[in-house]
Amino acid sequence: MREKIQKIRENFELEFRQFQEIDFLRLSLSDAEGLMRNLQEFKAKHTGKKSEIAEAKKLIKEIPPEERAEFGRSVQEAERQMLSLIQEAEKRLKDFIAETKIRRETLDVTIPGFRWRTGHLHPITILRQKIEDIFVSMGYAVEDDREIENDYYNFDALNIPEGHPAREAQDTFYTTKGLALRSQTSTVQIRAMERRGVPIRIIAPGKVFRNDTPDPTHVPMFHQVEGLCVDKGISMAHLKGTVAEWLRRLFGKETKIRMRPSYFPFTEPSAEFDCSCFKCSGTGIFQDEKCRPCKGTGWIELGGCGMVHPNVLKNCGVNPEIYSGFAFGFGLERMCAMLYSIDDIRLMFENDIRFLRQFR
Ligand code: DAH
Repeated sequence: MREKIQKIRENFELEFRQFQEIDFLRLSLSDAEGLMRNLQEFKAKHTGKKSEIAEAKKLIKEIPPEERAEFGRSVQEAERQMLSLIQEAEKRLKDFIAETKIRRETLDVTIPGFRWRTGHLHPITILRQKIEDIFVSMGYAVEDDREIENDYYNFDALNIPEGHPAREAQDTFYTTKGLALRSQTSTVQIRAMERRGVPIRIIAPGKVFRNDTPDPTHVPMFHQVEGLCVDKGISMAHLKGTVAEWLRRLFGKETKIRMRPSYFPFTEPSAEFDCSCFKCSGTGIFQDEKCRPCKGTGWIELGGCGMVHPNVLKNCGVNPEIYSGFAFGFGLERMCAMLYSIDDIRLMFENDIRFLRQFR
């Protein structure tokens, strides 16, 4: 009989080991809950009504009277020990589960919060909108037009006939049907005059395309803003005053402009316009060193301009004897790159959030 109780104890201890050797440091909450369920099953199996110890208790009355008391005591002692071991294990697991849950639910108000990053406009869009606002406040309408053009609007109507060398400088991407991606926004001058007639005051911001290999200062698609003003009695003085005014509004009151003679097929006379460098205020020197955006010249080249060529007016059904006008055009990427000291305009098209985030 004694051996039987001994055997029961041994079986119990062997199986109970899994509840004694728990590595609480590595225990997860769900594993702890699993162990707790196992422990309840274990408890039923080893101390419940159908357990070996319960069977042993039933045997007590069959034991000869002189041995009965001792046998009874040892059965009870074995049962008591097993129950107390189980209770200790239960307590350890219960405490662990409760503590882990509390720790999980604690709120550390000192941890920095998570903030959703909101989107924002692209630097080119920001600059374009600023320029649009300035011109709208000066009485100009904003025109938008197609990016796929035929030769007539991209070249012929702009006084660039076939074989003209200016066509080559603006090589673009051709499609099979005699259409091409526009190489300049000057196309909108023609379309707008055809549509609205004169007098007219418009700017036309938009995408243009050139068959260029990308490098730090060239990309095959970029943005230009075209300006056109046609009315009776418009002169070069209006051109100069307008360019000076919008650049002052964009870069600040102190901004100066200068115009240098140049050539464009669609204007006569033609000029290029520069503005005094916004970094060194035209001195060419910034923090005792040669200023970077203007390369030490104090001036920044911005775009082309001139008085609309009579042929262009005629092509749009406008009588150059009665009307005259000025036009100008410039690229947004170069202006944006200078404003923000970006030395590679390709960055503006790579959609790298780390770069774009700086311009919100
Ligand atoms: N279309 C010219 C270009 O792409 C820029 C330009 C120059 C536009 C003079 C004009 C202008 O309207 O008058 O290089």
